[in-house]
Amino acid sequence: MTLADVLNGAVDYLTARGVDSPRVDAELILARALGLQRIELYTQHDRPLTDAERAEARGLVRRRGTREPLAYVLGDWDFRRLTLKTDTRALVPRPETEIVVERCLKLLQGTAEPRIVDVGTGTGAIGLALKHERPDAHVTATDCSADALSLAKENAHANGLDVELVVTDLLDGLAGPFDLVVSNPPYVRADEMEALAPELAHEPVEALLDRGQTERLIETARFGWLVLEIHEMRAVEIAGRLGAAGYEDVTVSKDLAGRDRIVEGRWIP
Ligand SMILES: C[S@@+](CC[C@H](N)C(=O)[O-])C[C@H]1O[C@@H](n2cnc3c(N)ncnc32)[C@H](O)[C@@H]1O
Repeated sequence: MTLADVLNGAVDYLTARGVDSPRVDAELILARALGLQRIELYTQHDRPLTDAERAEARGLVRRRGTREPLAYVLGDWDFRRLTLKTDTRALVPRPETEIVVERCLKLLQGTAEPRIVDVGTGTGAIGLALKHERPDAHVTATDCSADALSLAKENAHANGLDVELVVTDLLDGLAGPFDLVVSNPPYVRADEMEALAPELAHEPVEALLDRGQTERLIETARFGWLVLEIHEMRAVEIAGRLGAAGYEDVTVSKDLAGRDRIVEGRWIP
């Protein structure tokens, strides 16, 4: 079988299993399995594959066919300028979260050596990207999941970034003050869990399930800026909560798809 035969077979297989973007996924998986650039799948399309190459590709394509997230199948994922290791210990970083980092960088303009906390860091995405793009920052990243933090630690090490990692509930035990607290807390309600895409069933439930973390954080993060990624349907409510809790300059920002996804406010003591 040639590379093109295997690629087309993988596209048909993933299509039949309801994968959203079967060709892109098949290309990325095959390129990874064969150690090629995506373009080389086409420049080498008529090259026969060895048994070992086919077995490697088949194993990864089958995993994606079970609707395991592409990022877990590939084992890494790009987030802003970093490549992060991704596996079932933590949520796959989403593109909209890159905009959260953008907002934080904007709010921190003019603050030298800012003290930042990323609450619920998962892979480390937000905290590590902030440290990477603001090397003068002191970044602390927390998570209630020791598994998630072990992955964040591997990502910090692999990217040569010095951040403090703490297993705790939200901000418990952290000594402020901080210039900015940022979080992408879980925001799927219990009654919404079953209707989620099959890929989300592979991600840790504590990364998804809303247990009131957003409301608790608004009550406890009374330092500098608070930047929250939120469910698009809750922007007005969360902005109202920030205002009622005494935060000033409350602003809602949109993601690249035009959805209200970020709420920020400033605590002035
Ligand atoms: C939606 S995920 C976000 C992960 C990462 N920040 C990102 O944006 O990709 C939420 C994270 O919050 C963590 N988490 C949930 N409840 C928490 C709590 N009470 N205290 C600290 N972390 C919590 C989860 O373990 C998970 O890693």
